[in-house]
Amino acid sequence: MLSNYSAAVAERHPTAATDKFERFTYIAIFFHWGVAALILANILIAWQFPLVHGPLRAAVFQIHKSIGITVLLLSVLRLAWRMLNPPPPFANTMRAWEKESSKIVERSFYFIMLALPLTGWALSSAADLHVPIVLFGIVHWPDIPFIGTLPFDTKLGVYSLSVAAHHLLAKITYGLVALHVLAALRHQFIKRDLVLARMIPSLARPRPFRDLRDY
Ligand code: HEM
Ligand code: HEM
Repeated sequence: MLSNYSAAVAERHPTAATDKFERFTYIAIFFHWGVAALILANILIAWQFPLVHGPLRAAVFQIHKSIGITVLLLSVLRLAWRMLNPPPPFANTMRAWEKESSKIVERSFYFIMLALPLTGWALSSAADLHVPIVLFGIVHWPDIPFIGTLPFDTKLGVYSLSVAAHHLLAKITYGLVALHVLAALRHQFIKRDLVLARMIPSLARPRPFRDLRDY
């Protein structure tokens, strides 16, 4: 027996008629959009690095580092929270290959959300021209402790390796974001199911007034 709400949703979304609509919890939604916005902002900021010079350059790097460390902290909390609160099962409008590819992209994102800031933190800790991290100009954030004690050559090796890893992970992120966003748009506009609504619940809400599209 469908509730009034589910019946109204099914009426607006014919492909969802047999779909039991289960959205993510608001905590999962907060983590998802908060972390997504911070990662995208940090990528846009990093793209400005070659363009900024003088005192502004140091400030832009500090903002990049502050946002990155915030992503790291939020992602640790998010991962712990998700382990204790499993997400809803995939929408039943998804085929097996869609579920499998979605799992791969989502797991890769969890890896990226930790590894990208960690390699940034490592390269910042190993840099020869060492600039301490001050989160949003307020809180002093330590370097990764053991890196500062390494012999000069090893430290240089750690620096080159973490810069290379940071750049590579950033490129992988571009690919994952493109796949993930295209998949979300495909669900919304081609399959016209409720997958995007699981992360943006207002999309599932039936409109109060009928409009031209209803005729
Ligand atoms: C959400 C997390 C992060 C994202 C999305 C991100 C993204 C990026 C991107 C796209 C670049 C430019 C790479 C390129 O030129 O191809 C970059 C460079 C850089 N990032 Fe991050 N980053 C993150 C976290 C961090 C953290 C936590 C730190 C330090 C605490 C950091 C420090 C740096 C530095 C110093 C560079 C310049 C490295 C160089 O090219 O010499 N990043 N980052
Ligand atoms: C850097 C940006 C993003 C990252 C790192 C990211 C990461 C994730 C992760 C890890 C999940 C799995 C659910 C969870 O554990 O919370 C997820 C689900 C989802 N994301 Fe994103 N996301 C990003 C951006 C976006 C954007 C821009 C859209 C929409 C255009 C989007 C739409 C969705 C949807 C609809 C789901 C739910 C899929 C399902 O039903 O299982 N995401 N995302």
